[in-house]
Formats: sequence, structure tokens, C-alpha cells
Amino acid sequence: MSAARGKGTVAIVGGAGAVGSSTAFALMDSGLVGEIVLVDIDDERAEGEAMDLDHGAYFTSSVRVRTGDYEDCWDADVVVVTAGASQNPGETRLELMERNAEIFAEIVPEITAGLNDDAVILVVTNPVDVLAYVTWAVSDLPAERVIGSGTVLDTSRFRHALSREFDLDPANVHAYVIGEHGDSEVLVWSSANLGGVPFERYCAHRGVEDVDALKSRIGDDVRNAAYEIIERKGRTNYGVARSVTATVERILGDDDSILTVSTLVDGQHGIEDAYLSLPCTVNRGGVRDVLEFDLSEAEQTDLEESAAVIRESLDRLDL
Ligand code: LAC
Repeated sequence: MSAARGKGTVAIVGGAGAVGSSTAFALMDSGLVGEIVLVDIDDERAEGEAMDLDHGAYFTSSVRVRTGDYEDCWDADVVVVTAGASQNPGETRLELMERNAEIFAEIVPEITAGLNDDAVILVVTNPVDVLAYVTWAVSDLPAERVIGSGTVLDTSRFRHALSREFDLDPANVHAYVIGEHGDSEVLVWSSANLGGVPFERYCAHRGVEDVDALKSRIGDDVRNAAYEIIERKGRTNYGVARSVTATVERILGDDDSILTVSTLVDGQHGIEDAYLSLPCTVNRGGVRDVLEFDLSEAEQTDLEESAAVIRESLDRLDL
């Protein structure tokens, strides 16, 4: 690792924005990061955020927060990209595509021109699956080192909803959201379990009468979470910042953790040539491997439809 005291350096492109600066704030506490570099077209705001964050460094493990240019990404261990437009109330993630794909076509070559060989790029900007693919295609980096934040957040929202529903420690909730980080995402109920007990059996144990109604309520809550937040506060930032921080920590910690990041899918579940989320083993090299479920027929169909939604968007871009 390149930063002082053997800790990692993380560059955040779009670091002056709400998601970028909240990610920097959360990352300061990880103990794994020695330096956080905020890169943003709004120099002055980035400077202000860096000063404000850095002044809190006294209370965290030694970490320095500063501003930098694209060239400062070249020494980073992880480059987090949050730059671009974010959703307005009522807008879908995919509606941001053209605006943000143009921004990515400009910034990805700058980020990658002198990037160190071990760096991992973590794309967060929406529509994240499309933009992670764009980053990979434009940069020509190995796919395992270009990751999208994907449905790590949706998976955590799903687990949070189940843990609240059943009043259970979230650590005992095992459930995944896969596919697009967006409207077509798929909640994998068939393998969801509470402490190893399959979901339906656990429902019987807890006396749930209408399991389908429960599934549909939780599914709507998870899928609509971002819309509900954006309707009220204009954006989402803290939840996504936590999920991005957790992902960066697993990468820097070389943890071989399973996370539903967005990755290049190459035949898994019959899907080819698109970025979307499946459970991936993540370590310092990025994505080590991609896992497959025994999906129900309906889940398989939904996943194929989700992949088709992403593929259609990719086809509209001139890559
Ligand atoms: C959300 C944004 C990050 O789901 O898409 O909060």
C-alpha cells in the first residue's frame, strides 16, 4: 500500500458531492486508510470538504484528507467514483444514463492513464451497472478490478427489513438482492434464511399467516427505498456511503468477503456481457469469483429480465 504507515490511499472522484464526502467521512473511521484524496470539478467545494473532514482527523485513527487531481488517483489503492448527476425526485436511475455516460467517457481515461497495476476502481454513480461497464470498456482494465457498488446497499436494505420485521440481529439474516441496482432488481427469497432456517420455515415458526403479502411488502420497501428518501430529502447519501465504505474495507483488508457488487457477468445464470450484481468474493485484487444460486424459476426469469434492462441501456450507448 502506498500511503504512510502501511495504510491504503483512497481517491474519491466526485469527492465534494454528498455521496463522495459522506463516504470520505465514513472511511476515516476504518483504520485501514492513511490518506483520502477528494477529486472534484468543484475545486473550492472539495477544498472546503477536505478541510472540514481533515479537522476531525484528530479524533480518528491517523488519516489525512486532502484534495487532488486525476493524477492523484494514480497512486491510490482504491478509486471510488461518485461523480455525475444524481436522481431528482421521481427520476429513475436509468434516466441519468446519457448525462453520466458522457461524464465517464471524459474522466475514466484521466483516472486510468497512470493508474497503478493493483488499483481497484469502485464505481458508485448511477446507473451504476451501466457506468461500471462503461468504465471497464473505456479503460480496458481487467474486469475483476472494475467493480460497481451494485446491490450491496439493496442487500443491506433487505436484511435490515427482515431483521426489523422479526426483531432479529441483522448478523443472523442471510438474504441477497441481485441484478440491476434499480427498479428491476431481484430479491432472492428462495435462499433467504434466518440463522440457517429457510425463510418460509422461519415464517411458520413465527406464525406469519400471509407469507406472500410479507414478501411483497418487503420487496416494495427495498425497491422503493431510494425513491422514498429522495422524495423527502432530495438525495440518498448515508446508506450508500456506508455500503461503499464496507466494500472498500473488504478490498483493502483483503478479506475474501462475499458482497453483491456489480461485476462483469460471463455466463453465470445464462447471462453474458453485462455488469450486474451477483454475490462475489471480494479481496485486494477486486472480484475473486462470482457465485451462482439455485434460483427458483420466477427468480431466474426476473434476473434475465433485469439483465435485459441493463443490456438495452448499454446498447443505446455508443461504446
Ligand atoms: C440508493 C442510490 C445510491 O439506492 O441509488 O440509495
